[in-house]
Amino acid sequence: MKRALVFFLVLFFVPLSGEGAIRKCIICHQKPELKKVLPSGAEVSVYVDRKLLRASVHRRLKCQDCHIDVTVIPHKGLKIGRVHCDRCHYQGAPKNIPQPDSIYKKYWGSVHGGKVKAGDPRAPWCQDCHGGHGVFSPSNPRSTVNKKKVPATCGRCHRKPYQEYKNSVHGVALLKKGVMAVPACVDCHGKHDVYSPGKPYSSVSPQKVPETCTRCHADQALMRRFKVSLDPAKTYKESFHGIALEFGEMRAANCSSCHGIHNIRAPSDPLSTVNKANLPKTCGKCHPGANENFAKGKMHLDMHSKSSGVVYYVAKFFIILTAGTMGVIFIHIFLDFYRKTKEKKEGMG
Ligand code: HEC
Ligand code: HEC
Ligand code: HEC
Ligand code: HEC
Ligand code: HEC
Ligand code: HEC
Ligand code: HEC
Ligand code: HEC
Ligand code: HEC
Repeated sequence: MKRALVFFLVLFFVPLSGEGAIRKCIICHQKPELKKVLPSGAEVSVYVDRKLLRASVHRRLKCQDCHIDVTVIPHKGLKIGRVHCDRCHYQGAPKNIPQPDSIYKKYWGSVHGGKVKAGDPRAPWCQDCHGGHGVFSPSNPRSTVNKKKVPATCGRCHRKPYQEYKNSVHGVALLKKGVMAVPACVDCHGKHDVYSPGKPYSSVSPQKVPETCTRCHADQALMRRFKVSLDPAKTYKESFHGIALEFGEMRAANCSSCHGIHNIRAPSDPLSTVNKANLPKTCGKCHPGANENFAKGKMHLDMHSKSSGVVYYVAKFFIILTAGTMGVIFIHIFLDFYRKTKEKKEGMG
């Protein structure tokens, strides 16, 4: 009886703003044993770690800023929905709310936002990547979207890519050696603008993979730092495969067709798909009957050298073809421009 009275007093005499508004909720939710009973009979904890919330970027928010549908106390049986973070983080939001490069629009246009819209219960809402009460700035090591934590965060739902990535050259460098210059999932896929590889505008579609890899692998200073050859990036575009891909032949090999997708390893690693011993199998996926001889020689040939044989001449042919086509286009534009200025002058005169 006495406890009920104290509870009643606290509830109604604590001011309804600032700390008071939070205490109104935390008075129950700080109890570790507070539980919710699901229709199935199972119990889930509804304990709230106040310290975590206080340390987070949202330390100044009140509970109901996020839980807008908790309108009565007690609320057993009240239908409480998930929190909509984009109630605040929308494009054009007040200046103190971070909204760089329109996260909201990107997310709802992504494969994840699309699945949420379609009602897929497995698809991630903002809080499935960022956490609910433990939201931190990405640069904070505690954040679930800190570069080092990203693979595990995405990997909660995408187990196979995560397992492979963990043991790849990039994954080992990031997770075991703390090298920040290698890609985490989001450096190849994007963070809020993740698309299915089947979409031509996805950064991991066959057409875009070379561009995505060469963002780093054509960076001279970076590659020198890690003693990785720049030749692959330089020569791919002019290789059979690179040219075929450029001309819309999606079946041609992109970087990932040879190196693997999430299991990329150094060529010297026996488990690498481009290790000498594995080349017949790797090339053979698309060139049936490829044997050791087929795969012989350096793959990333320097197309500018005549010693590359037929590769050199094919490359030359395409360069001449391209230059010729461009030439004709330029002459056309010039003549058109000339005609238009002449007409304009005559019209004005
Ligand atoms: C009298 C104690 C009490 C107070 C005060 C209280 N809650 Fe609750 N809350 C509970 C209990 C018990 C549950 C589990 C309800 C159930 O079983 O459906 C719950 C559930 C919730 C849930 C839903 C969790 C889920 O997974 O469905 C949210 C969100 C919540 N409370 C937020 C708040 C907020 C915000 C306040 C302050 C405005 C608040 N609570 C005040 C006891 C309380
Ligand atoms: C920044 C927004 C935000 C604030 C502020 C916030 N919450 Fe939450 N809360 C969430 C999210 C997100 C979840 C995860 C469930 C979901 O997806 O909606 C959650 C979950 C909960 C749950 C369900 C149990 C759990 O941990 O999953 C309870 C209860 C709860 N919050 C109570 C509170 C209380 C009490 C406060 C104030 C002390 C508070 N929340 C402040 C966003 C917030
Ligand atoms: C009531 C408005 C509101 C809601 C709801 C809200 N936020 Fe925020 N959020 C803010 C404000 C304000 C800041 C800036 C805090 C500061 O810098 O002091 C912020 C900061 C952030 C940051 C830090 C950005 C950075 O670059 O440091 C992230 C990440 C974030 N929010 C994610 C979320 C997520 C995820 C949710 C849903 C669980 C959410 N927010 C819900 C208002 C909100
Ligand atoms: C699939 C996972 C995922 C989802 C879903 C997601 N984010 Fe993010 N978000 C990230 C990652 C990863 C980063 C940090 C990337 C980096 O900069 O290293 C990030 C960064 C941010 C930042 C910091 C500013 C920035 O651009 O770096 C804010 C604010 C933010 N997200 C808000 C949101 C909001 C709001 C939603 C929902 C509309 C959302 N996020 C949905 C993964 C996600
Ligand atoms: C070095 C770049 C790169 C990194 C890092 C990377 N991916 Fe991928 N990912 C790709 C490419 C390229 C594809 C497209 C493969 C294809 O064409 O099918 C892909 C495809 C996917 C797919 C869809 C196909 C499938 O295998 O299910 C998922 C899901 C995925 N990645 C998740 C992840 C996750 C999770 C991580 C981090 C643990 C990650 N990726 C890291 C390049 C990368
Ligand atoms: C809460 C679970 C969850 C999290 C966390 C998550 N995803 Fe997803 N993701 C999904 C679901 C569900 C789909 C739709 C899959 C489908 O339809 O097969 C999807 C689709 C994808 C696809 C397209 C796959 C395809 O074949 O079309 C890629 C790529 C992807 N996610 C990458 C990521 C990356 C990168 C992260 C981390 C930044 C991430 N996901 C975090 C659940 C999640
Ligand atoms: C964000 C930058 C970045 C992106 C994007 C990236 N890489 Fe890397 N990659 C690196 C760095 C840095 C290293 C060196 C790591 C080390 O030695 O610890 C590396 C190492 C490698 C190696 C091993 C080289 C060796 O001999 O040790 C291969 C192979 C490789 N990357 C292929 C790829 C492919 C294929 C893609 C695209 C699907 C890609 N990388 C995307 C930065 C990147
Ligand atoms: C047709 C298959 C194939 C394609 C396509 C391909 N590679 Fe390679 N790559 C190889 C082979 C085989 C090796 C082993 C060494 C060699 O022959 O140069 C290699 C080696 C490498 C190395 C290691 C260099 C070193 O110093 O150890 C990197 C990095 C690399 N490739 C990146 C890329 C990138 C980035 C792309 C796309 C722009 C790409 N590769 C496209 C087959 C390929
Ligand atoms: C993803 C499929 C794929 C993979 C893997 C692949 N190629 Fe190709 N390759 C093609 C396509 C498509 C062409 C375009 C010409 C054609 O249709 O023959 C081509 C053309 C070539 C050509 C020039 C034309 C010819 O048929 O002689 C050579 C040489 C070649 N590839 C070597 C290799 C080698 C060596 C490997 C392994 C390191 C390899 N390829 C892996 C798809 C692939």
